[in-house]
Amino acid sequence: MTDFIQTNHLKKYFTIGDQEVRAVDGVDIGVERGTFSIIMGPSGSGKSTLLYLVGGLDRPTDGQIVVDGISLADMDENALAIYRRNQVGFIFQSYNLISSMSALENVIFPLRFAGVPDRERKERAMQLLKLVGLENRAHHRPTELSGGQQQRVAIARALINNPALIVADEPTGNLDSRSGFMLMELLGELHTSGRTIMMVTHDPRMQKFATHLIYLMDGHVVTENEFLAENEMHKQ
Ligand SMILES: Nc1ncnc2c1ncn2[C@@H]1O[C@H](COP(=O)(O)OP(=O)(O)O)[C@@H](O)[C@H]1O
Ligand SMILES: [Mg+2]
Repeated sequence: MTDFIQTNHLKKYFTIGDQEVRAVDGVDIGVERGTFSIIMGPSGSGKSTLLYLVGGLDRPTDGQIVVDGISLADMDENALAIYRRNQVGFIFQSYNLISSMSALENVIFPLRFAGVPDRERKERAMQLLKLVGLENRAHHRPTELSGGQQQRVAIARALINNPALIVADEPTGNLDSRSGFMLMELLGELHTSGRTIMMVTHDPRMQKFATHLIYLMDGHVVTENEFLAENEMHKQ
């Protein structure tokens, strides 16, 4: 079986002034369809950058990234935008909801160019709000919702195009632990229903939701033992 996502010597370098930052520095990973991968690593190790490359939000400096048999590095801007819209659902630490819109309007927002009739959009969005337990908050604005509720709206929004892949960058980072676990349970359900999930977290308690763990250090994938040894060193 070929992997759903495969990276090959994937690199992303940033140049700031005369300094080169090797955010992702030769990453080779394979992610099978239907898995739930958690990416762990210290701050600055390249977790977000790797996730953005996979989600098509950013382009590699070098190397390959192939999703469902298609090379993202070879796509033009238009094809990449279509990939992001149809295949990927994004969840960020800061929920990124539009504050002037209701929960329902936020969930519908990604469909604005999709040519879906208004009534159908609303129905789909309501179903998703129901899925995340917020059907009775559809007409609330983000400021009228708790952090956990806002993040659940963001999940519903991420699902509106029925993406095969969900990428989540520290989605529980701003939540209290109870809301964080509720959110993880929701992601767990999405995984059970067949979606592929890649998530970054600092929180080791979330590891139990994953089928696979990926450890990153200085832009490289390392083994669990290497990761733990490094962490021990920092504690001393
Ligand atoms: N747009 C950018 N421009 C310059 N440097 C960046 C940019 N994005 C990330 N970096 C740098 O790349 C490294 C990895 O960043 P990031 O992927 O955000 O790490 P993590 O998510 O693991 O904390 C860091 O040193 C960061 O400063
Ligand atoms: Mg990050």
